[in-house]
Amino acid sequence: MTETRPRHFIDGGEISGGRLVTLIDRAEELRAGRPQEGGSALTGKSIAMLFEKPSTRTRISFEVGTAELGGHPVVLRGSEMQLSRGESVEDTSRVLSRFVAAIVIRSGSHENVVSLAEHASVPVINALTPLYHPCQALADLQTLKQRFGDLNGLKVAYVGDGNNVARSLAVAGSLTGVEVVVAAPSGYQLESEVPARLTEDPIEAVSGADAIYGDVWVSMGDEESAAQRRADLAPYRIDGHLLSHAKHETIVMHCLPAHPGEEITADVLYGERSAVWDQAENRLHAQKALLEYLLVG
Ligand code: CP
Ligand code: NVA
Repeated sequence: MTETRPRHFIDGGEISGGRLVTLIDRAEELRAGRPQEGGSALTGKSIAMLFEKPSTRTRISFEVGTAELGGHPVVLRGSEMQLSRGESVEDTSRVLSRFVAAIVIRSGSHENVVSLAEHASVPVINALTPLYHPCQALADLQTLKQRFGDLNGLKVAYVGDGNNVARSLAVAGSLTGVEVVVAAPSGYQLESEVPARLTEDPIEAVSGADAIYGDVWVSMGDEESAAQRRADLAPYRIDGHLLSHAKHETIVMHCLPAHPGEEITADVLYGERSAVWDQAENRLHAQKALLEYLLVG
């Protein structure tokens, strides 16, 4: 039976666990081959990258990755498009599909990304919504595989706000045999349907974990409740005390941007157990592998 390729990558559940592992292996190959090997997988193809929210890693890694695969990145900001003057998401999708081979979008509305995908005749890739950040989860899996060799049986303790990054980590982990435990206070926890173990106790979460994972306490769109969030999430800071309850070889991950001294202390972020900078680099390799898979096979 031939495998049907997914058209889109929106909540991360579109790609099977086995295929995700193959994709991560390909990302590792691309990492090893860089920068010597120029790619040609996207020759003659343009990729639209529509960012309605700020981004450093996602935008630049998609732009660089597309160029490295021989394609042409078309970076678009929502404020510069007719979208900002009321043109519908549906019509924008129909028109972009006539020009480009894929659409990468970061939006403050998950529904708009779903709608864009429904009306597109080319693959749509979610570059972050308030609900999911599946491209981040690809780089997270790659980082874990780099450090531990095998994903199956690993345990990752996500500590902090149960947000888009936590949700996508849980989805990716459940597909690849990684147990994800999310430690968050009441009111900040993921919904019970998410494939992760949920707890309020950060110390219990990190005991026996292979990796501890953090993200900001104030995500894009949460600015109005920033002060309350900082107060409520303060017991969930990733610091030396929390690490002392983990194994000696436990690594620390963070999707970035970080706020040293807030959700993670500087000594941990920049310390020897931090895998954060490799994790950031892996955004490039993992997304190149994703583009190859969605557009070439
Ligand atoms: N981790 C991440 O997605 O970073 P950016 O917001 O800089 O893209
Ligand atoms: N949870 C963060 C991730 C940033 C990459 C946000 O949504 O702002």
